Amino acid sequence: MPEKFDIKETIAIGRTFDEYSRMFDLRFTWLKNASILDMGGGVSSFTPEACELGLNVKSCDRIYGFTPEELEAKCRADLEGMLEKLPAVRKNYLWDLYKDEEGLRSYREKAYKIFMEDYRKSRENRYIRSELPFTVFTDKEFDITLVSHLLFLYDEHLDYDFHLDSIAELIRITKEEIRIFPIVNLRWKKAEFVDRIIREPAFDRCGFEIKKVDFEFVKGGNECLSIKIS
Ligand SMILES: C[S@@+](CC[C@H](N)C(=O)[O-])C[C@H]1O[C@@H](n2cnc3c(N)ncnc32)[C@H](O)[C@@H]1O
Repeated sequence: MPEKFDIKETIAIGRTFDEYSRMFDLRFTWLKNASILDMGGGVSSFTPEACELGLNVKSCDRIYGFTPEELEAKCRADLEGMLEKLPAVRKNYLWDLYKDEEGLRSYREKAYKIFMEDYRKSRENRYIRSELPFTVFTDKEFDITLVSHLLFLYDEHLDYDFHLDSIAELIRITKEEIRIFPIVNLRWKKAEFVDRIIREPAFDRCGFEIKKVDFEFVKGGNECLSIKIS
């Protein structure tokens, strides 16, 4: 069996509002008066679904310069590429939620279809092209920032300095709390960078907490890192 999920760069795979709610242990009452950023939101349907519920969410990604046609082609190709590689490594995953590869496909297709419709309609208002580690946002622009499947996961492609600069940037642009999920990497192991980041003297005024959440696809990958900003 391969020793890791072998992908060469971050891919445009999207998750739904329901998956985000579980991964980040989100409560509507916490979100409802907050200004929220989905960093590295990609083709997730979290932003359109949340906005439909009346929440104030923006999404940021380096791929938002793409036209809808280019983006749809990329996310279809990335989804097929991911699904082709999955059978060889499926033992590393828990299938309670998705059941099988087809179940997983339907979640991912639902996410990108909802996203694509909104991207065509609301690109100017909600989808900001920018990228970590240095973004276009002002200091404390958002109350809450969520980062799903970008930091820690790709620790063999994005080095420690990238993580250090990115977390500093997220602290700069966030007023209240940052949540990051997952904290396992493509080798299905807890990313070593997590403990190094928590111990960084530069972040000693922040409150770090690793929380168990009600979402586990990678076996053992049911933890979210919360960073409370003081
Ligand atoms: C695996 S996808 C996750 C998408 C979404 N967060 C989700 O969980 O459904 C990773 C996303 O991170 C984006 N990305 C990669 N490098 C980035 C960077 N330096 N800054 C912002 N986004 C980045 C990719 O374009 C891609 O859309």
